[in-house]
Amino acid sequence: MASPRCPSSSPVTAVRISSFALAGALNLSELATSIRVDAAGFLVQLARRRNLLAVTAILATATSAAQPDLESVRVAPYADTPSPIVHEMLKLAQVGPGDYVIDLGSGDGRLVIAAVKDFGARAALGVEINEKLVAYARASAMEAGVSDRATFESRDLFAADLSAATVVTLYLFPAAMARVRDKLQTELAPGTRVVSHDFPLPGWRTDRIATFAAPEKDLTVARSIAVVYVYSVPPRERAP
Ligand SMILES: C[S@@+](CC[C@H](N)C(=O)[O-])C[C@H]1O[C@@H](n2cnc3c(N)ncnc32)[C@H](O)[C@@H]1O
Repeated sequence: MASPRCPSSSPVTAVRISSFALAGALNLSELATSIRVDAAGFLVQLARRRNLLAVTAILATATSAAQPDLESVRVAPYADTPSPIVHEMLKLAQVGPGDYVIDLGSGDGRLVIAAVKDFGARAALGVEINEKLVAYARASAMEAGVSDRATFESRDLFAADLSAATVVTLYLFPAAMARVRDKLQTELAPGTRVVSHDFPLPGWRTDRIATFAAPEKDLTVARSIAVVYVYSVPPRERAP
C-alpha cells in the first residue's frame, strides 16, 4: 500500500500518526489481517517487474495458504486509484449536490473525500474491511474539513446496506464482480449510477467505457492505463 503522506505539523497529522501507531498495537487477529493485506500489497508491487497475471496467481496461492479467511484479498488487495482517475470517475458519474456516493472497498478514502470536497456530493460513505485504512481515511477526511459528510465504515462490503446510494464506485477484483453485481441489482434503485475502475460488471450493459492514461498505476499494477466502466442499474425483472 502507498505510504502515509508526509507528516506536517497539523493536529490531524498527530491523529493520523496515532491511529497508525494504535493500529500497530494489534491483537493477533488484527495482525493476521494486516500481514495478509500488506503481503498482498507487496506482491502487487512486484508486478512492476513481473508479469501481472503471474503475480496475481502467486498472490492467490500465497494468501490462501496463509489464511483461512481471505475475503478481503479475494475481493481486492489495496491499490489506489490515481487522483486524476478518481476525478474522471466522479465526473463520468456526474456526481453533484444531490448525490450520496458509496465507495465499496474505500482504501485510503480518496474517492469518498473527493466526492464531497471536489464534487459537492451531499454525503459519501466508504466501506472498507481494513481498519488501518479506515483510520487513515477518517483522519484524511478530518484534515480536508469534510468529516461530517465523508464517513467510513469498517466492515465487509457484502454486509453493507447500499440502498441509499445514488452513485456507487468500485475498484475490485474481477472474481468478485458477479457477486457485487447481484448485490447492486438487489439493493440499488434502478437508474443508480455505478462506475467501476478497470473491471466490468458481468452481464450489465455499459452506458460508457472511457480509457485514460494513468502512468501512476505502473507502480502498483504494472499497467499505465485506467479503464472506467459506467453503468445505470438496470430495471428489476418482474416476477412472472
Ligand atoms: C483496489 S483497492 C481500491 C481502493 C479505493 N476504492 C480506490 O479506488 O483507491 C480495494 C480495497 O477494497 C478493500 N476490500 C477488500 N475486500 C473487502 C471487503 N470484503 N469488504 C470491504 N473492503 C474490502 C481492500 O482492503 C482495499 O482497500
